Amino acid sequence: MRLLAISDLHLANPTNRDALAALPQASDDWLILGGDIAERLDHLEDLFALVAARFAKVLWVPGNHELWTVRHDIEPGDGAGELRGEAKYLRLVELARRHGVLTPEDPYPLWDGPGGPCVVAPLFLLYDYSFRPDHVAFHEVVDWAREESAVCADELLLSPAPHDSREAWCARRCDEAEARLAALDPGLPTVLVNHYPLRHDLVRIPRVPRFSPWCGTKRTEDWHRRFNARVVVYGHLHVRRTDWRDGTRFEEVSLGYPRQWDQEKGLLPYLREILPGPGAA
Ligand SMILES: [Fe+2]
Ligand SMILES: [Fe+2]
Repeated sequence: MRLLAISDLHLANPTNRDALAALPQASDDWLILGGDIAERLDHLEDLFALVAARFAKVLWVPGNHELWTVRHDIEPGDGAGELRGEAKYLRLVELARRHGVLTPEDPYPLWDGPGGPCVVAPLFLLYDYSFRPDHVAFHEVVDWAREESAVCADELLLSPAPHDSREAWCARRCDEAEARLAALDPGLPTVLVNHYPLRHDLVRIPRVPRFSPWCGTKRTEDWHRRFNARVVVYGHLHVRRTDWRDGTRFEEVSLGYPRQWDQEKGLLPYLREILPGPGAA
């Protein structure tokens, strides 16, 4: 019985969809899906149905790609238009729940398998551009990133509606998550799961360094200490790695686009063991 994690499956790519065939038929493991699974609701729903049948429990947090407004998500029949912003997020939550998949809106489950007990907290915190260099003013971020073609497509596709801005939505999400985490038993360790890294010093993306403003918020810099995190799980960067800060393990668990992973190996080596984890007996 293991707690496993993977993110950034990007199922718009047929190569990545085909790779899902390698998943086990049945398992008592839990699976964390760390966001950027798919832009299209039908791709996401297919995956939820598949993994819900094959793992004992599945947890999901949204990535920016799930939150994009794309034409496939036009509301049928009622003329309500395209799903955007929080409405799209809530539709995704509904979809997950239909398959028994836990979301950031659900009670945090307790992992009492090997490496536990731990509260596993799926979080949806977004970003607020505070991961920009100190010399770049907030209102200059997009122009600064554009100089090196690093502007995130979210600027066009990720609506913050009904919030005034993505940073306002982020602040709201952080307020809510912070209150829930603060109410947990401080004696119980946690596994924090978020699409974005919780710390600026974990953002190392040499191929697009100016992408950092779209990668998280400095508000969460010390959450691993404040909320007794044994492990923090994230993706988004497409740079798989393991880091340690203050005794907490940080796991970037992206699969990524087909050029970013080895199809010869298949999907299974990319399922990262979160608990019991490396070195466990
Ligand atoms: Fe991604
Ligand atoms: Fe992402």
